[in-house]
Amino acid sequence: MAILPITVYGDKVLRQKAAPIDQIDDKTIALIRSMFETMHNAYGIGLAANQVASTKSLFIVDLSVMDEYKKEKPITLINPVILDISEETEVMEEGCLSLPNLRADVERPAIIKVKYLDTDENEQIMEADGLLARVILHEYDHLMGKMIPDRVDAKTRKKLQKKLNNIIARKEEIDYPIMQRKL
Ligand code: NI
Repeated sequence: MAILPITVYGDKVLRQKAAPIDQIDDKTIALIRSMFETMHNAYGIGLAANQVASTKSLFIVDLSVMDEYKKEKPITLINPVILDISEETEVMEEGCLSLPNLRADVERPAIIKVKYLDTDENEQIMEADGLLARVILHEYDHLMGKMIPDRVDAKTRKKLQKKLNNIIARKEEIDYPIMQRKL
């Protein structure tokens, strides 16, 4: 296990679509363990593989760092597919470990159904709402090469631009390791 450097906005790997995993081997399990260590170290609640420079189709979620979600178990979603989304949407403020010091309101479907493989290669289908649905959709976006700035309107995006430029130039102060060379 290791704390891995997190890729930041501007790195091309964050724009790449993830490739499905055909075998959950020891290397994949080691990657997942390191991703949890990396995410916990940065106090994140979700992390996608391309945020640690892997193009594999997987992400992890752990809401238990938040007081209201203490009892939630960590989840690993491999080759996830969103099966259904509600018409009803919700707006919530989001952050992202690859967008340090940036926060923005994002509108997303309120309820979702997702299919994925767990680490034992069993197919799981989960319905989620609230924060869990939000984090899953945010991380799923990462696997599609999408990030928060792609989910806000042009006006909001313009407001974020200065911050985005700082992140690209790695000028933001961050208290967790980020990828120092541009990927
Ligand atoms: Ni993110």
